[in-house]
Amino acid sequence: MDIAPGLLPVAGLLGTWRGDAAGSYPTIEDFSYTDEVVFTDVGKPFLHYLQRSWGPTGAPMHTETGYLRLPAPGTAEFVLAQPMGQTELCEGTVTVEGHVVVLQMESRVLNSATAKHVVSTRRRYELAGDRLVTTFALAAVGRPMTHHLRSELRRV
Ligand code: HEM
Repeated sequence: MDIAPGLLPVAGLLGTWRGDAAGSYPTIEDFSYTDEVVFTDVGKPFLHYLQRSWGPTGAPMHTETGYLRLPAPGTAEFVLAQPMGQTELCEGTVTVEGHVVVLQMESRVLNSATAKHVVSTRRRYELAGDRLVTTFALAAVGRPMTHHLRSELRRV
């Protein structure tokens, strides 16, 4: 199955990635975790995305899922569902410089009535060969855009 031509800039994301990660936010204790990300080609002009994470004892932590779209050259959209009651509609850019691919996006977030209130998020994915570095910031619970997560993943 050939990948849709518009997705070629992110073809290097296909597969399973895993590695160490750490998180913080001004309102919570710092924490560390194992992060896993899977991008799958389903034969359509988007990649399916699944993220899972585990704490130091192996207990499940956050998970999220969605779709990565490149609707026009240089443009990226990430449509995500959050189990804490949010949907995250990320829009931004994809840039390719040599063998480094960078996705940079900011989102509008819809919150359910019971969710902790998230205003917006900022995501960065830097792919260089078999190394994928992700960073995530959010404006939430009355705080401005602030760092929450960083993971350094290797292809498995
Ligand atoms: C690997 C992914 C993530 C991990 C491991 C993670 C972990 C955590 C942990 C341990 C806490 C503190 C305890 C708790 O409230 O559960 C927390 C709080 C929080 N996280 Fe995350 N998180 C992740 C992704 C996200 C995402 C994607 C969002 C938003 C879309 C988010 C929004 C929040 C909010 C709003 C809080 C509450 C802060 C507060 O109550 O003051 N997190 N996260």
